[in-house]
Amino acid sequence: MSAKLLDGKKLAEEVRVGLGPRVRALAELGVVPGLAVLLVGEDPASVSYVTAKEKACADLGMRSTEVRLPATAGEDEILAVVRRFNADPSVHGVLVQLPLPEGVSEARVIEEISPEKDVDGFTPVNVGRMVIGEPCFLPCTPHGVLKLIEVSGIRTAGAHAVVVGRSNIVGKPLATLLARKSVNATVTVCHTGTRDLAEHTRRADILIACAGTPELIKADMVKPGACVIDVGVNRVDDPSRAKGWRLVGDVDFDAVKEVAGSITPVPGGVGPMTITMLLYNTVESAERARARA
Ligand code: GUN
Repeated sequence: MSAKLLDGKKLAEEVRVGLGPRVRALAELGVVPGLAVLLVGEDPASVSYVTAKEKACADLGMRSTEVRLPATAGEDEILAVVRRFNADPSVHGVLVQLPLPEGVSEARVIEEISPEKDVDGFTPVNVGRMVIGEPCFLPCTPHGVLKLIEVSGIRTAGAHAVVVGRSNIVGKPLATLLARKSVNATVTVCHTGTRDLAEHTRRADILIACAGTPELIKADMVKPGACVIDVGVNRVDDPSRAKGWRLVGDVDFDAVKEVAGSITPVPGGVGPMTITMLLYNTVESAERARARA
């Protein structure tokens, strides 16, 4: 293996340790940072994400509350829960786990979240603030990716960053943040309409795979020495495992690690950073609420 492993688990732990004193300082003022989670339906990946988020809150001495609705829940029922969270002063962060069931407008539900409690950074207000560089909650996965790149000493200024994927949650915000003056990368965004994906990825100094396609990025698509960040979390069938499946990223890890200069593993790379940045935003939100009080 030639690539250096970018250890998201270790960095996530360091960031969480740094949050500890802030949580304790709030506790002395009688404030416990609170995250409220809405999960609609029983998608196994969503259930496991939500469980991990809630456990992380508890580990840090934060409060989390959860409302679960059946997959048959209508938009009005979902909106009513979001409004209840918005109005509850013990809730500092509101998280609606995506995807929502078919037929429910995600855009409508996200718009209902109070921007002051939007710790996912998904509301149009926070997305707009991010784009124009105003203070806001940054979306957790892109924020975690940037932190991982930053602490790993990867040079971003003048680098060519190629983002493969254009989701609202990861690809689009990442492209925006990488192009910020403070990061100063030149950014290419690839997507399903890209004619020759490998032609672009081979030019990347920093390659970020967030397409949701298992092992899309092969070794011959990577420039030797590049930094490869794998945001993908895909369940693929594996009859040799007791559960019948295993997790793989959007990068063919075993082959790409022989070419890349640095690489994130799946699991243990970006995933733990996403959850940590959610805690970070929730603590920040509690501090802001306290300052307003
Ligand atoms: N579904 C997949 N990733 C995320 C995330 O970061 N936040 C929410 N709310 N839903 C998701």
